[in-house]
Amino acid sequence: MRGLVRETELTPAHLVYPLFVEAGLSGRSPIESMPGQDRLGLDALAAEARELRALRIPAVLLFGLPPEKDEQGSGAWARDGIVQQAAAILKDAAPELVVIADVCLCEYTSHGHCGLLWPDGTVDNDATLPLLMETAVSLATAGCDIIAPSDMMDGRVAAIRAGLDQGGFSQVPVLSYAAKFASAFYGPFREAAESAPAFGDRRGYQMDPANARMALDEVLTDIDEGADMVMVKPALPYLDVLRRVRDAVDVPVAAYNVSGEYSMLMAAAERGWIDRDRAIDETLTSIRRAGADMVITYHARQWAERH
Ligand code: PBG
Repeated sequence: MRGLVRETELTPAHLVYPLFVEAGLSGRSPIESMPGQDRLGLDALAAEARELRALRIPAVLLFGLPPEKDEQGSGAWARDGIVQQAAAILKDAAPELVVIADVCLCEYTSHGHCGLLWPDGTVDNDATLPLLMETAVSLATAGCDIIAPSDMMDGRVAAIRAGLDQGGFSQVPVLSYAAKFASAFYGPFREAAESAPAFGDRRGYQMDPANARMALDEVLTDIDEGADMVMVKPALPYLDVLRRVRDAVDVPVAAYNVSGEYSMLMAAAERGWIDRDRAIDETLTSIRRAGADMVITYHARQWAERH
């Protein structure tokens, strides 16, 4: 009877699983700050892709750990970049697996910021745009199905859309990290991706957690610039923002259940303070209930194994 009247549906079809791919790694290596998650070497990807498909998970979101970093983040758009190589392997092993590429420079810059820097250490928004555009085109060329810019530079969706169209990728959609807040909950990810800023923080380009109206404005701006889907990130501390975005727009909405949300739950479960599986079910259901079409979550694989 509960099933008959249940309002919110959660199936593997709604889940996106983030993958960290590390250059030079063979096999898998556990991420200490995220119990149960691994970084993968290129040689581990084909099997991973097939297993995710067998679990009916439709999509992955790729992050790369390049062999080297530099001031510009040139590893992001290198033809043989780590994510470019990973995408080709995944598409070859499981062509129906949707490969979403995160577009940002922070994993590739020596200073760990998401864009080029002025001499005073602040981010040069406009000079960063052509690099993001080049990265997006390079990732689409490598076979990525969806381009997801997470850098938060102003004007990047328009730049990326124009670059994709000119490059012959007008059919490749942009999933914009539209409302991305400057959050403490990215902590474990920055350890996993070795992308913590060497100095300062990201408050100059990510959003103030206090602002929900501004989040809506960012979402509408990105849709205006050509975003096909929009994201709210993190998820749990921003379910109200997610609901408002869902009510305001008709494009698909994604929510990112980020690393800190994952690790917090796993740490409490490890101590026996909460029931892990029930807490995960409730978490993912709440994000769907708040209006997310897609939930990007590190729990995806474990959840799908149980259902
Ligand atoms: C890159 C990026 C970050 C995350 C996704 N893309 C880190 C950041 O902005 O510092 C965080 C994801 C997570 O915490 O799970 N800019």
